[in-house]
Amino acid sequence: MNHQPRPLPWPDHSTPLMLAPMQGLTNQALRSLFAGWVRPDTLFTEFMRVAPGETAKRLSAADLREMAPAEHGIPLVVQLIGHGTEALVSAARIAQQNGATHLNLNLGCPFGRMTTGLTGGGILQRPELLQELVPALRSVIDGSFSIKLRAGYDDPQQIYSLLPLFEAAQVDFLVLHPRTVTQEYQGTADHGVTARVVRETDLPVIANGDIRTAKAARRVLEQTGAAGLMLGRGAIADPLLFQRIRGQAASEPDRAERAAMLRLYLSELLKRYSALFCGEQQILGKVKTVLATMDDPAFAKQFKALKKARSITHFSDLVQSLA
Ligand SMILES: Cc1cc2nc3c(=O)[nH]c(=O)nc-3n(C[C@H](O)[C@H](O)[C@H](O)COP(=O)(O)O)c2cc1C
Repeated sequence: MNHQPRPLPWPDHSTPLMLAPMQGLTNQALRSLFAGWVRPDTLFTEFMRVAPGETAKRLSAADLREMAPAEHGIPLVVQLIGHGTEALVSAARIAQQNGATHLNLNLGCPFGRMTTGLTGGGILQRPELLQELVPALRSVIDGSFSIKLRAGYDDPQQIYSLLPLFEAAQVDFLVLHPRTVTQEYQGTADHGVTARVVRETDLPVIANGDIRTAKAARRVLEQTGAAGLMLGRGAIADPLLFQRIRGQAASEPDRAERAAMLRLYLSELLKRYSALFCGEQQILGKVKTVLATMDDPAFAKQFKALKKARSITHFSDLVQSLA
């Protein structure tokens, strides 16, 4: 079969730094803040649940409103999670009809909420299902088709046996979080696995997992030869991580810089979440989810007070006093 190169969701000949999809965190408001501030090379939607079986509502109306080839001039990858070839294929068609260009299949999420079948990382328990699913998705996806996955369901070596299928099906790139599904978030991401995957496949591989500092980012790129990096919790805790890796901000911030960043970040989030969500407690709850990703012993007391704040006014006052 002739390989038809499709435009990838990042600039040619670059080593992209992607913002990871994170359910409950990387909503449109947070993505727009990151896009205008630290400019990730690629954005992902949070996973979009695909309803199984016969249904007129394959994807929610809210998810359909997020379909686009790009956001703020940055390529946007729409991520689908679900089970059943028919359901996922029809969701991919609908996503494209509504404006999505870059589609991603979630084969990594360890906490499937749907009880009716295997979803996300759960599908890796039945790799034979992928023999039908992956080529079927490829045949209907006109733009880039990528897969984000763990190293395996419970065996970190499983990934190697899946590469021939991904190559034969002409998947455009992989995003690898080298933990197993059953491992959830315990232990560390083993980028030795990423390095071997990069050696064993010609597909571009984006390395993801436990990249929280510029130093770690450089180490993972060197160790693995990956085509790019995806930043999750590290970027939510410190958006300037994108700039630090690019050498456009200090590798490690001092306290004054960190405090200034936190004042800007948390107050911008409050403003943007107030426009997106309703109700004081919901808005505060959303900002506190971001706060929960931060582990700064130097600000422990201030963070404790912020987590206890019950009103937006009190929270804002505490944010402004961060120093
Ligand atoms: C709260 C939370 C939500 C997540 N939601 C998604 C998601 O919607 N889709 C997905 O593929 N991965 C999701 N992930 C996994 C991340 O994208 C990423 O693979 C993982 O956190 C490892 O990268 P990190 O160490 O840089 O955070 C989520 C992770 C967390 C902690």
